[in-house]
Amino acid sequence: MTKLVIEGGTRLKGKVNISGFKNAALAIIAGTILSDKKCMIENLPVIKDVIVYKEILKELGAEVEFTEKGKLTVDGSGIKDCNLLNGLTKKLRASYYLLGAGLGRFKEVTISYPGGCDIGVRPIDQHIKGLEALGGEFTIEDGLISVKADRLVGTKIYLDVVTVGATINIMLAAVYAEGKTIIENAAKEPHVVDAANFLNAMGADIRGAGTDVIRIYGVEELHDCDYSVIPDQVEAGTYMIAAALTKGDVIINNVIPKHLEPITAKLKEMGMGIEEYGDSLRVFYNKKLKPVNIKTLPYPGFPTDLQQPMTVLLSTVEGDSIVIESIFENRFRYIDELLKMDVNIKVDGRTAVIKGVKKLKAAEVKATDLRAGAALVLACLAAEGISTVRDVYHIDRGYEFIENKFMNLGAKIKRIEETEND
Ligand code: EPZ
Repeated sequence: MTKLVIEGGTRLKGKVNISGFKNAALAIIAGTILSDKKCMIENLPVIKDVIVYKEILKELGAEVEFTEKGKLTVDGSGIKDCNLLNGLTKKLRASYYLLGAGLGRFKEVTISYPGGCDIGVRPIDQHIKGLEALGGEFTIEDGLISVKADRLVGTKIYLDVVTVGATINIMLAAVYAEGKTIIENAAKEPHVVDAANFLNAMGADIRGAGTDVIRIYGVEELHDCDYSVIPDQVEAGTYMIAAALTKGDVIINNVIPKHLEPITAKLKEMGMGIEEYGDSLRVFYNKKLKPVNIKTLPYPGFPTDLQQPMTVLLSTVEGDSIVIESIFENRFRYIDELLKMDVNIKVDGRTAVIKGVKKLKAAEVKATDLRAGAALVLACLAAEGISTVRDVYHIDRGYEFIENKFMNLGAKIKRIEETEND
């Protein structure tokens, strides 16, 4: 059992380096199994989900090496099939990428049904529809999901909803499909582009990633490659919001400012100062913040992954704000925890109505999922007094060195490992 003990009330000041993007990293690591050559991936975040994925590759038979600096070398020549029934794939959502990548290389996959954050129903019907259109046949029973195909043939696939996971999964499988695959209504998120760039670096032929029509021309083989993952826009956004919440002045290094525009625009609208440099941003408080309304949307709209930190910020801004969560129906669960800190938020379905309070009360709270955990850490940094965040394992799935990064910005935050007798 791990907890974070936080003494709030310090204005964050200094510099923070942003790690590689978790959600791009997981797609790319899965993509390495498409090849039987060596791939070297750099700028990976050293987080739980990446470590679990490394274990998955190892269990499949790959030779893998992962350094503390986030460099992963994968030699996939030893992988003979893509069947994994030991439950590892239940530990994270992104194990669904094994369906596309494994189908691409081996034409057959069986894994335990993917797990991940409990933020809604999270159907995978669009993944299934896409892979079936390429020739896959699915079976789902006894907690296992299998797909197999005699051959994969390119075709046109229209996605009924904009989904990052299904877009990437179809790209993974279509790399080796005969002829041309077209994905219409594709997701445009930066991690879709990063996954496509990685696959192209291995010798795939994917065009149009970053727009809503992606074309994949099947190839017969892939080669070895070196690739560096893009910076994490969600982690960067979390520190930007933390700067606003603590009335701080923070330089966020190793970012792609374009990917952060939806957050930058909202924080500026609220009154935060933001200066943009090549690959960094300065986020500083210089006047009283104003309330704003937010609706989460696919990229380039406001990201659902930052809805929770942003809701915490708005709960401290005098006046009324409305937050609409349009991507995941169950992403307001953490508000029950936040209420322990004396916020004034009313949730009705996918809408949260927030009346800003003057200050947050220190409390003992529990992370209910990854981004909720980060949001609660932010709330504790702003609250006066000593707070505790429990169930930190959710946060460790996606934030690298979170307490060290906040400590370097002046926060008073300590990680405590509890034994059962504590
Ligand atoms: C990815 O989840 C991310 N996870 C999520 O990040 C992120 O919140 C989400 O994309 C949106 O950006 C990973 O990359 C591992 P979607 P994913 O498919 O792929 C519906 C985090 O905190 N949908 O883009 O599951 C779905 O219900 C995590 O880092 C279908 O209806 O999201 C949702 O409403 C949490 N059918 C919408 O589409 C499908 O087959 C978008 O989901 C697939 C999705």
